[in-house]
Amino acid sequence: MIFKALNFIAGKIFNKNGYYITGSLNYLKRKRSVDRNYMDYVRLSTLELAVQQIKEAGLSGAVAELGVYKGKFARYINQYFPDRTLYLFDTFEGFEKRDIKKEVENNYSTGEQNFSDTSVEKVLGLMPHPERCIVKKGYFPETAEGVNDSFVFVSIDTDLYDPIYNGLRFFYPRLSKGGYIFVHDYNNDGYIGAKEAVDKFCAENKITKLVIPDVCGTAIIVK
Ligand SMILES: C[S@@+](CC[C@H](N)C(=O)[O-])C[C@H]1O[C@@H](n2cnc3c(N)ncnc32)[C@H](O)[C@@H]1O
Repeated sequence: MIFKALNFIAGKIFNKNGYYITGSLNYLKRKRSVDRNYMDYVRLSTLELAVQQIKEAGLSGAVAELGVYKGKFARYINQYFPDRTLYLFDTFEGFEKRDIKKEVENNYSTGEQNFSDTSVEKVLGLMPHPERCIVKKGYFPETAEGVNDSFVFVSIDTDLYDPIYNGLRFFYPRLSKGGYIFVHDYNNDGYIGAKEAVDKFCAENKITKLVIPDVCGTAIIVK
């Protein structure tokens, strides 16, 4: 009874402040190694569960993140797939003018967020298995030229309409059956082009998606 009451009060306080707690995924029976400063439990835990599904299904293929910035999420992809090639696609200099122009013209976003305070060296320094990483620095989709791998997991987190749509066009045909694509910002009011891009691609290709309640509203496509 006392625990129920404490749980209820804690829930009220956390809810009021925008914090959410869920179970600890004990059924995964694994040692957790998480960055306590990474404040998106749902995003990380969903990644962990997707990884488990991919491994249980015995899928083969590389993994990738398009939109890496400082590598905070890519670090976990690299940790959970220690034996696979991880492609890291980013300008590492922030948004490109041509993408921002389209954002502003369509009222998708202001395109003003600055993601230039990063570097390839810093990102690789954060990776637990940097020897597995292939860095594709520059403007996507140009940097995808010559990449012929198939993929089991891809995170698309470029915020903007064009690179998200182009990312889906590039990765979906190369995704192994049973593989996952996570698209960040699907339900983010600050980047409404993300939803437009995913919805357009899914409608064109008759694909269904699942949306999850992480901090920026990720959409998940499973092939
Ligand atoms: C929100 S940040 C990525 C955050 C990172 N995934 C994380 O979870 O910490 C978005 C990144 O997408 C990159 N980006 C946006 N458009 C791009 C494009 N057309 N080509 C390459 N990189 C792009 C930006 O440079 C920026 O680093």
